[in-house]
Amino acid sequence: MSIKSWFPTYIYSKALQASGLAKLNNELAEECRNLRDYDKAGRAWSKKNYPGGYTSYASMNELQRFSSTFAELEKKINKHVLKYSKALDFDLQGKSIRMTDCWVNIMPPLAAHSLHLHPLAFISGTYYVTTPVGCPGLKFEDPRLDRFMAAPPRTASARNENKAHIIYPAKAGNLLLFESWLRHEVAQNRVSKERISISFNYNWS
Ligand code: NI
Repeated sequence: MSIKSWFPTYIYSKALQASGLAKLNNELAEECRNLRDYDKAGRAWSKKNYPGGYTSYASMNELQRFSSTFAELEKKINKHVLKYSKALDFDLQGKSIRMTDCWVNIMPPLAAHSLHLHPLAFISGTYYVTTPVGCPGLKFEDPRLDRFMAAPPRTASARNENKAHIIYPAKAGNLLLFESWLRHEVAQNRVSKERISISFNYNWS
């Protein structure tokens, strides 16, 4: 083959664990909803910055330090992040990975999450807790989009790896990891039930 692909963007997608996901997700969902009831500052912040939904991003964003359920989740996610970091050929230089932030996102019907990235981290991700049928997935954008300039559009039958966007369906029990600079968004939740996810950032130090 005379054409090779270089500079790939890797996205990791895997079940958090082989079994026991339903029980874990029930516990997490209950804790997420309790948090929303309790977190007045977070509800106020969400009203302005996360219309229609609730996120603890600006109020309670170190949940792994304050809740044993989230601390257990952190341990499980750590293993996946190490694997992903290895696949990216990162040399951590004897340092360890560290979950710096971990927060809850609850998207009731009509809530959406606009295009963003995760500053001050090297690996970020999302774990899906409650995903009603038909709820939106996570849409990633080609990081080179602003450089395409005069390139023609892609054909309707373009291969997935050549498309400008890729959507990973939201699936309860599944973990998605990506490099923190990769922009992503969640389209409006058009189903009648709440979608719950937990997002997090990692650093190495
Ligand atoms: Ni995000």
